[in-house]
Amino acid sequence: MEDIPDNIKALLAQQSAEILAAQKDIGDKLYQQLEALTSLTSILPIRYPLPPMRGWAISPDFGVLLVSEILNKKPYVVVELGSGVSTLLIAYCLELVGHGRIVSYDHDAKYCAQSRENIKRHNLERFAEVVHAPLTSVQLEQGQWDWYDTAKINKDEPLDLLVIDGPPGQIQTNSRYPALPLLHTHFSGNTTVLMDDAARPDEKTIVDMWTQEFPEFTSEFITAEKGAVILRRCR
Ligand SMILES: C[S@@+](CC[C@H](N)C(=O)[O-])C[C@H]1O[C@@H](n2cnc3c(N)ncnc32)[C@H](O)[C@@H]1O
Repeated sequence: MEDIPDNIKALLAQQSAEILAAQKDIGDKLYQQLEALTSLTSILPIRYPLPPMRGWAISPDFGVLLVSEILNKKPYVVVELGSGVSTLLIAYCLELVGHGRIVSYDHDAKYCAQSRENIKRHNLERFAEVVHAPLTSVQLEQGQWDWYDTAKINKDEPLDLLVIDGPPGQIQTNSRYPALPLLHTHFSGNTTVLMDDAARPDEKTIVDMWTQEFPEFTSEFITAEKGAVILRRCR
């Protein structure tokens, strides 16, 4: 070490401090997700292995938010945009509560089939259904979007909980924006909206647009692996 010039020693010290900080950050984040996953598996009576979480799917911390909301509010009608492991967690939770049903809309036939198969494997058909709703062009005041075909969406029963995890952000700018303009008239008096991926710039813009257009809702940002937002009616 004596032969190493001081400026290189300082650089090495700085780099090793940065590596240690990055390792601690990864460890902390993994611990948070493990803690959340443990909570989920200790509360829900899971009968078959769950599909992988994180990545395209929700992370365990978002699952905890979903389960907490359902246990607290005991919704009857849950609508989800973007099916997957989240659909199973919601259905297990409704089973636990003893009532309610989730209808999850998915634009992609392949992921619809996968989610339906998972619902069967977990024996959750009484509580969950996946509907294929291909994206179709919709013209709104704020512009044009490709969004789930609204003709496929059941509007007969007022919606207690709306979970937004689609359409994918890659499809267009502010991809999830149409959810509120198109569905808010079907909300019950006490609807909660939960959106995943709220730390992304597009989702931040979407929440700003919604809260301006729908002042009857307040939004709360939740620090989570991918960020989450909860909207509740305040008047
Ligand atoms: C963010 S994902 C929804 C994830 C879901 N809520 C879950 O927890 O598993 C949004 C949409 O992306 C599609 N999707 C899911 N997994 C994918 C993958 N691995 N690659 C590409 N698209 C995917 C599906 O059509 C899904 O509805």
